[in-house]
Amino acid sequence: MMRGIENKVVIVSGGAASIGAEIVDMFVAHGAAAVIADVDVESGGASREPHEKRMSMRTDLASDDDIRACVQATVDRFGRIDFIVNAAALYEDEGAASDRMAWARSFDVNVTGPAMLVLAARPHLAAANGAVVNIGSISASVAQAGRWTYPASKAALAQVTRSMALDLSRDAIRVNSVSPGWTWSTGMERLGLTREAVDRIAAPFHFPGRAGERSEVADAVLFLCSDHARFISGADLPVDGGYRAMGPEGRESAFAALVEAIPAR
Ligand SMILES: NC(=O)c1ccc[n+]([C@@H]2O[C@H](COP(=O)([O-])OP(=O)(O)OC[C@H]3O[C@@H](n4cnc5c(N)ncnc54)[C@H](O)[C@@H]3O)[C@@H](O)[C@H]2O)c1
Repeated sequence: MMRGIENKVVIVSGGAASIGAEIVDMFVAHGAAAVIADVDVESGGASREPHEKRMSMRTDLASDDDIRACVQATVDRFGRIDFIVNAAALYEDEGAASDRMAWARSFDVNVTGPAMLVLAARPHLAAANGAVVNIGSISASVAQAGRWTYPASKAALAQVTRSMALDLSRDAIRVNSVSPGWTWSTGMERLGLTREAVDRIAAPFHFPGRAGERSEVADAVLFLCSDHARFISGADLPVDGGYRAMGPEGRESAFAALVEAIPAR
């Protein structure tokens, strides 16, 4: 059991689906109360078995009114807010074809919304000496063909994490991020992808030779919220199976290829 999670209260944006839903379940399993703040609560949160320590609140991260209402509803129901986990994200990305609206929308949901949620909850987080975990991505630090707005928004979120960590430290609030690699998601399932196909395609650039599990991301989030991480702030924890550690040469030895290319004398 992780110390410092039981009887605490977390708001998880994007908590209705996939990684966010796993994070919600893990907090509840550790004795915390969790609020699912998601624009689409029907697909996951609200339709699940009711639980006294779980509540769904339809929340669009692009709406300040929704954010305020979610924070208020959380305090009304559970009396406090200890943690914010920002897992909601807009994946849409048309790369070089993205127009101004697409850029604005991506940043609104993936960067500004998470910041607004944290600021709206700040007095409660301060009262609890709480913690924030923003879900970043491997996409924040590498170029991925055809993708411009999503990676840029995740890179911005990584910077916001550091800025927040510094300024919210005066309220003893810790702020960190977790950057997953490819993670088996309900979005992939909905597209009709099989786990086998995703693992096969992910294998060359994740050391374990597979995509990640949602629970592997959730484990890292709970750790960063827990007392075990009490001296960790402003950090990004990669949960990417080594994706960012692997260089462009991949698994094969480019040096061996070079040696092989040396002409015989
Ligand atoms: N799955 C992966 O391979 C992967 C890899 C790296 C990073 N991530 C990150 O992990 C997080 C979760 O990813 P996932 O694959 O579980 O995503 P998902 O698309 O399955 O779930 C995202 C959730 O966010 C909600 N959402 C979207 N827009 C919203 C808005 N405006 N307001 C409130 N909620 C909104 C959706 O309704 C959905 O429930 C995201 O931040 C994503 O960028 C995922």
